[in-house]
Amino acid sequence: MIKLGIIGTNWITQQFVEAVKLTGKYGFTTVYSRHLETATEFATKNGAENTFDDLNEFFASDSFDTVYIASPNSLHFEQAKQAIENGKNIIVEKPAFMNQKQMAEIQHLLDKHPEVLYFEAARNIHTPNFHAIERKLSELNVVSGAEFTYSKYSSRYDHVLAGEIPNVFSPKFGGGALQDLGVYTVYDAVTLFGMPEEVSYYPQLIRTGVDGKGTAVLSYPEYTVILNFSKISNSHMTSEIYGLKDLIELDDAGEIQHVDYIDPDGKRQTLGDDDGANPMIPEANDFARVINEPNNDQNMKDYAYWRQLSVYVNKILFNLRQDAHIFFVGEEK
Ligand SMILES: NC(=O)c1ccc[n+]([C@@H]2O[C@H](COP(=O)([O-])OP(=O)(O)OC[C@H]3O[C@@H](n4cnc5c(N)ncnc54)[C@H](OP(=O)(O)O)[C@@H]3O)[C@@H](O)[C@H]2O)c1
Repeated sequence: MIKLGIIGTNWITQQFVEAVKLTGKYGFTTVYSRHLETATEFATKNGAENTFDDLNEFFASDSFDTVYIASPNSLHFEQAKQAIENGKNIIVEKPAFMNQKQMAEIQHLLDKHPEVLYFEAARNIHTPNFHAIERKLSELNVVSGAEFTYSKYSSRYDHVLAGEIPNVFSPKFGGGALQDLGVYTVYDAVTLFGMPEEVSYYPQLIRTGVDGKGTAVLSYPEYTVILNFSKISNSHMTSEIYGLKDLIELDDAGEIQHVDYIDPDGKRQTLGDDDGANPMIPEANDFARVINEPNNDQNMKDYAYWRQLSVYVNKILFNLRQDAHIFFVGEEK
């Protein structure tokens, strides 16, 4: 049984804790929060026994072996470093780290601590619907590009409009649409098509200095992949992967609940449908499989692949931000 500790007590951690319980492969044991009352409340609600409001004491505890880090983006790096140095496996929420320097340092640290496993929680690429897309894509005779859209109005934008700066829209915490919903679309592109040759980003900046929405263009030798994402507007546009006369259609690039193949005659075939389950179960199962049997050949292959994807996505996110001159607090311009 994997013993799980968590950092961050917002709704996403609640969803993750519910998902891991449903896999039957984790025991939820330990909570860190900046406030002991919050830690105790979360622990009591979810059956964990250990609570901390001091990060050093949390990481020194042997009550857990794997930590799920769901703090604001800019805090992931230091927390992940501390976790690795304390021999804990890490499951870091997306985007794992802010820039390539941080990513390189983490990779170096992981190489020094081969007993520690690292996962970026990119839930979309672990789902059965995503695997259905991968299978169909491999059957297409010709690939001629794709457009991925993931746009959802964030209730926290109401707070921006009211004059506040919530973390997710803050340059201090590494916020913005690209760093949030955009990450899923970058994961879609890189997992399905590999690394692009060039990237460019056309953001719509908001008052806080980060991007509220944007369009990224990833150039591949023979086609382009367009990414649209927004936290300040809704979109019901589908996402599409183009063949020649045929295509694969996704209802949404971040929360893929329905996938169709549309053949050259326009006839539809359903490849995947919503199972109504907690969307974090597939990644929780995948991570558990590797943590429980790290030396299994397939697990070693999958782990190396996900780790490489995480490095690639980090590089693209950083290059897109550079292209659009979006800098976070503390970064050199
Ligand atoms: N996979 C998904 O579907 C999904 C969905 C949403 C978010 N996320 C990711 O999850 C992470 C957290 O996102 P979120 O929207 O939950 O962030 P958030 O609400 O800003 O913060 C998350 C947690 O971090 C702690 N925290 C908040 N402000 C802090 C501060 N100033 N200093 C230190 N700790 C602070 C809080 O926990 P305590 O009060 O207990 O300390 C809070 O519950 C992000 O990386 C985000 O991209 C993923």
